[in-house]
Amino acid sequence: MTVIEIDGLRKSYGTGTAVDGVSLRVERGEIFGIAGPNGAGKTTVVECATGLRRRDGGTVRVLGLDPRSDRRELLRHVGVQLQEAALPDAIRVDEALRMYASLYDEPADWRALMDEWGLTDRRRARFASLSGGWKQRLFIALALVGDPSLVFLDELTTGLDPMARRTTWGLIRAMRERGVTVVLVTHFMDEAEALCDRVAIVDRGRVLTQGSPAELIAQGRSDSLENAYFALTGKDMS
Ligand SMILES: Nc1ncnc2c1ncn2[C@@H]1O[C@H](COP(=O)(O)OP(=O)(O)O)[C@@H](O)[C@H]1O
Ligand SMILES: [Mg+2]
Repeated sequence: MTVIEIDGLRKSYGTGTAVDGVSLRVERGEIFGIAGPNGAGKTTVVECATGLRRRDGGTVRVLGLDPRSDRRELLRHVGVQLQEAALPDAIRVDEALRMYASLYDEPADWRALMDEWGLTDRRRARFASLSGGWKQRLFIALALVGDPSLVFLDELTTGLDPMARRTTWGLIRAMRERGVTVVLVTHFMDEAEALCDRVAIVDRGRVLTQGSPAELIAQGRSDSLENAYFALTGKDMS
């Protein structure tokens, strides 16, 4: 089953075109990567797909719904962790989870989620006192509180040390194992290669190519997605 169908999506801010005709399909149960350099338009695609931004053109169906006109219904089934996610410094882990759960008619059991994501020992910790890795765990748990079937994760591992990054990769795989479809936005090609079933490589508001990491690596006659990206674009990721 196709859970996301985007065709010809366009979005401009003022004079600049951020998304210039993006089309992609995400199938149920997969980890789908949207990968590309900073400024490529990745976050804008996610914002248009979750109804946080109005698109200028193209069609978008997510779980069979239009994210703008059916936004309320959509957000009942979708979890979103945004790139600039933040919580009040003083809020405690369990307070944040309880508060998010209160926003849904049929939330997941937030205590069980807290346990499952290893947060129970830190339930009284204040947000500001958590390390980057623990904050990300909390953001993942918060994205799952509505018991979503589809989750968007935007640059979840940016700013994490290598150990915390690896741990987070395990958590993302665990999400897929629970049957959740994951859209993973990243500017790390190694991350997309390690985690994603399929990847769309986005640059300057367009999808350059999409397929499984193995297909893209073969297409670039390369040995890694990072080198394939270089072969396909002539550019380094940075
Ligand atoms: N709110 C905004 N106002 C104006 N320009 C924006 C805004 N958000 C993003 N942009 C611009 O749109 C382009 C794509 O941004 P974004 O979708 O955030 O890309 P990415 O997530 O791939 O880094 C960039 O050139 C960025 O500067
Ligand atoms: Mg972004």
